[in-house]
Amino acid sequence: MGQSIESYIKHLVRDAIGHTLGGLELQRDRKTYVIANWKMNKTINETAEFFQNVKSSKDVSVVVCPSAQLLFPAHLFIKQSGQPIGLGGQNVHWADKGAYTGETSASMLKDVGCEYVIIGHSERRQYAGEDDVLVNKKVKQALKTGLTPIICIGETLDEKNSTRTEQVLSTQLFGALKDLHSGDIIIAYEPVWAIGTGQSATAELAQQTHAYIRSVLKQIFGGQADSISILYGGSANENNAADYSGMPDIDGVLVGGASLQAHSFEGIINVFAKGEQNS
Ligand code: PGA
Repeated sequence: MGQSIESYIKHLVRDAIGHTLGGLELQRDRKTYVIANWKMNKTINETAEFFQNVKSSKDVSVVVCPSAQLLFPAHLFIKQSGQPIGLGGQNVHWADKGAYTGETSASMLKDVGCEYVIIGHSERRQYAGEDDVLVNKKVKQALKTGLTPIICIGETLDEKNSTRTEQVLSTQLFGALKDLHSGDIIIAYEPVWAIGTGQSATAELAQQTHAYIRSVLKQIFGGQADSISILYGGSANENNAADYSGMPDIDGVLVGGASLQAHSFEGIINVFAKGEQNS
């Protein structure tokens, strides 16, 4: 049977009966990502050292997102290492170019070798006042320029405790994806209470929330939602990675703290690569 017919039938079956068939796990055709968000960390020397020491895998899509001034050196170090590692920015401006002091455009990111860009991270929402309208403009600009946006959404502890998680996520998704017709995006579910706190969401809670996120994506994109990767982020590390990788709607992780050291980032890559080999 031709590959496309086979995957079409799998889609139909999965839509009709969910992810399992008589206990038989159906292989998912979404990409699995392990993405590093280095935030405001590392010098050029530390970046060189990281890429000398980390070992990537071709079984998963590995992406590193350093701060803006490290992008070009990182691009060169990745090339030098010959490893399958993609590069992403941590932020982008919505305009093509112009009088926007301190900002970086999407075409500048492309120019230094980026294929991805993180948009709407909770730290930018908190410290730089980014809202869903701005996130939407940035997502459109990224797509227009040929960058894959990694769109971050997530509820605060207050919102979680007042059982508003679904409402918050749905508002963020509809806002970020307004007027979009292409599903060539990555969603990162990052509960704010889990970021940098060591209080990671349990894999069960993350799975449940990812399934909800996928149901909202279905309202927006229809069947395309099945091919959108949804990553978990928030104190993910090499010890809890296996729990996430076993979940049907968790298609990888966005990693902050544990991505700064080559050995711990590599540990996470290995867990997801093994999961792919076994699927
Ligand atoms: P953390 O950060 O892994 O340090 O919690 C994740 C993120 O903010 O992307």
